[in-house]
Amino acid sequence: MPNLIPQPTQYIPLPGVFNLSPETAVTVAVADLQSLGELLAASLRTATGFPLPVRVGESGALHLALISDPDLGPEGYRLEVYPEGISLQAPHPTGLFYAIQTLRQLLPPESSPTIIQACQIRDQPTFRWRGVMLDVARHFFGMADLKRLIDLAAGYKCNVLHLHLSDDQGWRLAINAWPRLAEYGGSSASNGAPGGFYTQPEYQELVAYAQSRQMLLVPEIDMPGHTHAAIISYPELKGTTKSDELYTGAEVGFSSLAIHEKITYKFLAEVLGELATLTPGPYLHIGGDEAHSTPEPEYKTFIERLQPIVRSLGKTPIGWEEVGKADLDPATVVQYWWNADFASRAAAQGNPLIMSPARKVYLDIKYDPTIRLGQDWTQSYIDVRDSYDWDPLTILPEAKSDQILGIEALLWTETTATRDDVDFMIFPRLCAVAEVGWTPSGQRRWNDFRIRLSAHGPRLEALGVKFYRSPQIPWQA
Ligand code: ACM
Repeated sequence: MPNLIPQPTQYIPLPGVFNLSPETAVTVAVADLQSLGELLAASLRTATGFPLPVRVGESGALHLALISDPDLGPEGYRLEVYPEGISLQAPHPTGLFYAIQTLRQLLPPESSPTIIQACQIRDQPTFRWRGVMLDVARHFFGMADLKRLIDLAAGYKCNVLHLHLSDDQGWRLAINAWPRLAEYGGSSASNGAPGGFYTQPEYQELVAYAQSRQMLLVPEIDMPGHTHAAIISYPELKGTTKSDELYTGAEVGFSSLAIHEKITYKFLAEVLGELATLTPGPYLHIGGDEAHSTPEPEYKTFIERLQPIVRSLGKTPIGWEEVGKADLDPATVVQYWWNADFASRAAAQGNPLIMSPARKVYLDIKYDPTIRLGQDWTQSYIDVRDSYDWDPLTILPEAKSDQILGIEALLWTETTATRDDVDFMIFPRLCAVAEVGWTPSGQRRWNDFRIRLSAHGPRLEALGVKFYRSPQIPWQA
């Protein structure tokens, strides 16, 4: 078995090898697949230096085609490697994109050798939600960092990028009707780091970039707590908060929107209205976590008023598990993170769930006590094996398996200020989480995964990723 992550559902080795050469060409069966052909060629050109022209036709040694194979589902693919050529086939372009990611991993990270063992792969994901969240509110990360994260995560077949766009420390998206949110509320970040925000054209560019990597962008505006940056930009929104200064600390739970003021709902409708227009994907994340300064009846009122606003914009709300305290619209997706009680209330209401258990997939938690970066409020550490050895279907006993959309790894950025910091906390744990999301649990073995992961050290290094060299992994030199 080659060192693929996530491990494909089926891999059959065949005799012989395919040799990628300076003469190798890429062909696509129909012109609509040209951009996927280009994506494949571009990634192989980087690794090999070969020209790899892309044409519409049948004759290329690397050939991409759409096929009818309903059992593969919306994201599945077939990848067949023979001595005379390689065929990438899928019912949908998404599957072809994943076939390309697998093919890239079948080649070594650097130029030579360019030989691939002949094989047949048939593959499709276990869960349809395989996400990663980046908190761009505590520290701001620019467009280049986000595009790079999209590429890295998509390379491991993750398909959701959730952006935590607002918090007490900063507001990160320009809103035309409420310009001070970004201009003033976006000017700060944790520990006095520089602030920043995305313009609407930048945000749309990011949406399109994510789409080209088969990733759904899910924007989060966290409410009614975690709203200090919004409140100091527009004090009429204030229910409560700690001061009228920009906030750069790390406490939570001190801010709340005014729940009974009309202006709050005008704000929600306008902010979410602009966000919905900018976001082609079906979801808007409304936060809802740690609203410790919002009395419980008011919290329920707020969530119950917020859901129909999102629905009226043609979108489906997602909320952190606390929204389970309110009466939920049946479509509202609930994201479990810590309190099984709240999440169970949502599960009992029958709502769809995303599993982000803090002890498994919180990438801001330290790997071990000696690590400079990260937090330890879970009173446990998360090394690679902790992120790998769990089953999303058994975490919350009340949840039926068909309620569980999938999983999402989260990076809160109170302590991570730079790209290298982010790399270090995300990798290699995201590789583990990606396999949990993709590969059937009955096919996952830690002792096998750790060997495969060891081969991804040089691969991540070649991509400039400053990952954590966990002592659990026998890293290749
Ligand atoms: C969270 O960690 N407050 C969702």
